[in-house]
Amino acid sequence: PVTAKVQLTINGQLHTLELDTRTTLLDALRENLHLTGTKKGCDQGQCGACTVLVDGRRINSCLSLAVMHEGATVTTIEGLGTPDKLHPMQAAFIKHDGFQCGYCTPGQICSAVAALDEIKRGIPSHVSDDLTAQPLLSATELRERMSGNICRCGAYSNIIDAITEVAG
Ligand code: FES
Repeated sequence: PVTAKVQLTINGQLHTLELDTRTTLLDALRENLHLTGTKKGCDQGQCGACTVLVDGRRINSCLSLAVMHEGATVTTIEGLGTPDKLHPMQAAFIKHDGFQCGYCTPGQICSAVAALDEIKRGIPSHVSDDLTAQPLLSATELRERMSGNICRCGAYSNIIDAITEVAG
């Protein structure tokens, strides 16, 4: 296999990895760095369980090769909060029962954090090309923005309640 060196800042820590160039960012996180908070569901871009933030934007890490992200800053669920100091989105998911089995939760939370940031930055979604034309945080708007994250337990309405609370 062809290998390459890649430098990534992950959850605030710089890592230099020597990887098979075919290694996905998801596998680099889980297998090389043992950051197993990020989950592998479908491994083909359909479920969102592997969502992480790369330079603040959400991506499906199963669809992206690690070497494509040389020099990038990656945030996983482990970097959003700690057991002592939860990220507000983590606390809201607990408060609103935004999960049952929890498998999709790291991806849901990373996605939700990025979704609110997208709204704040005025990035339109499919239901709102004009963010000024309707209430920004309608459940429809949030459901659309979270539509890439599948929850087999069906905790969707509680997930939307949690995100709505964080959005204020
Ligand atoms: Fe990446 Fe399902 S594991 S989208």
